[in-house]
Amino acid sequence: MNKLVASILSLAVVAGLGGVAFAQEAAPAAHHEESATPHYPLKEPKEIDWTFAGPFGNYDKGQLQRGLKVYTEVCSACHSMNLVPFRMLSELGYSDAQVKTFAANYEVQDGPDANGEMFTRKAVPSDHFPSPYPNAEAAAAANNGAAPPDMSLLAKAREVERGFPQFVFDIFTQYQESGPDYIHSLLTGYEEPPAGFQVPAGAHYNPYFHAAAVLAMPKPLSDDQVTYDDGSPQTVDQYSKDVSSFLMWASEPHLEERKRTGFMVMIFLLIFTVLIYLTKRSIYSRTDH
Ligand code: HEC
Repeated sequence: MNKLVASILSLAVVAGLGGVAFAQEAAPAAHHEESATPHYPLKEPKEIDWTFAGPFGNYDKGQLQRGLKVYTEVCSACHSMNLVPFRMLSELGYSDAQVKTFAANYEVQDGPDANGEMFTRKAVPSDHFPSPYPNAEAAAAANNGAAPPDMSLLAKAREVERGFPQFVFDIFTQYQESGPDYIHSLLTGYEEPPAGFQVPAGAHYNPYFHAAAVLAMPKPLSDDQVTYDDGSPQTVDQYSKDVSSFLMWASEPHLEERKRTGFMVMIFLLIFTVLIYLTKRSIYSRTDH
């Protein structure tokens, strides 16, 4: 018994010493905090009330069509979407003929032809949204060294970590929209740098960028830049919401189906549980206790 007490005591002493050592190590770090790398992003993304959030979420087709317009007229000048075929646009409510006409606005490389030469031709619905640059190096060279990322999966690829305890709540609130929240905050988050902050040449200050305080993308949107024909406000905020929704759809076109199936599975499991319980009762009622 004495031995047990002694070992518990010695453990406590070791833990105590460890704690002191840790505190001493941590103390000087606190002094250097100003020069240390800050935690990025400087600002957490704002949470938006998306129509596709929650277990019964749905895409708003009108919003996706507006988002496509913003992507086509603004973002596609720099960003490709090379996992998304044009024919997928029929899911947004466009007819086959409309998709064909839309695709024909783009040029893609094809070949080789009978002479072994590559050639360009008008895109058809089975082609994918092409890159405006011939290769990643050309894209980087045109954008101050940072190639604009492909947008096919961007809304899924950029999920800012929520940390404890937020991620525990997220399990219950079914929060899965940090990608579009991030993109919306980034697009609306350009601001003047704080006094004394040196913005490198060709960079732009944005506290929502996940990897630094500046990024190579200039503020892409301004009010009244894209004309909407459904009366929606032509503001940076609305454009950003629409294009973020569109990018979420591009990343996860079957989101609605997934949520419906998930709900049916839960209902099935509930009924199944009741059945199993009744079966168990009926079997054990015949057994002597
Ligand atoms: C003039 C070219 C240009 C245009 C137009 C443009 N972007 Fe970008 N974008 C870039 C570049 C360059 C980067 C890479 C920035 C970096 O890594 O520093 C980028 C990066 C991004 C990122 C990723 C940031 C990250 O977390 O890595 C998002 C999201 C984005 N752009 C969204 C958009 C949207 C939405 C539009 C259209 C409204 C758009 N961009 C229009 C050049 C552009």
